[in-house]
Amino acid sequence: MAGERTPIVSGNWKMNQNHFEAIQFVQKLSYLLQKDDLDAVEVTLHPPFTDLRSIQTLIDADKLRLKLGAQNCHAEDRGAFTGEVSPAFLAKLGVHYVIVGHSERRQLFGETDEFVARKVAAVQKHGMTPILCVGETLEEHEAGLTLDKIRRQIRSALDKRTSEQVKSMVVAYEPIWAIGTGKNALPGEAQVVIAAIREEVAAVTSRPASAAIRIQYGGSVKAGTIADIMRQPDIDGVLVGGASLDSTEFARIVQYRRQSA
Ligand code: 13P
Repeated sequence: MAGERTPIVSGNWKMNQNHFEAIQFVQKLSYLLQKDDLDAVEVTLHPPFTDLRSIQTLIDADKLRLKLGAQNCHAEDRGAFTGEVSPAFLAKLGVHYVIVGHSERRQLFGETDEFVARKVAAVQKHGMTPILCVGETLEEHEAGLTLDKIRRQIRSALDKRTSEQVKSMVVAYEPIWAIGTGKNALPGEAQVVIAAIREEVAAVTSRPASAAIRIQYGGSVKAGTIADIMRQPDIDGVLVGGASLDSTEFARIVQYRRQSA
């Protein structure tokens, strides 16, 4: 059924690339990608906040078919939250996608399931699409607790959302032990967890929502590994960290269909 869901490849730059580097990167990437690639795959870029305006201007001026994304936002529209970024302001800047609940936010900045759920609602309130990240630590993985953890994260983020709201969302399954480590979950292993995520979405919302929601895999994805990942029936895309910083490598990831042809 993955055929009905448009594949989505997302580059999460984390705290890398200043706005000058970002402009160069986007120019090079747009040169490398062909019309066919962008007809088949939706591409989202998630630079640091300080780059958003520059990239948005470039996308608009050159009519690029790349979607602007952010890496995080606050749950409130405005107020006394020093250093935070409003989802309302991101929407005004032409941001389409916002990563919510990335494991680095949860682990390094103490974001709770409850706060993540509020952010999901805030992103959708402003007409943007959340990319909700879920994933287990190495300890949880080794203790066989992966599915318990993932189900809890999904339930908490989605249980106040309507079926229609969930249909348009993206979930990224990112096993924490595979992030930036060079270790991949095997495609078959990721498929099992992602199929379980889809089941949990059905249980929390509805079957039509679980059939429509797009679910990405993330964790050490490279041009050499993506084709096998994308062959899995429940995997609709990838969320890429390190390999999204090199425009040639990232373009090859977007072009994974050429490898299987
Ligand atoms: P890496 O691709 O560097 O493992 O990062 C994955 C990730 O966290 C993307 O959000």
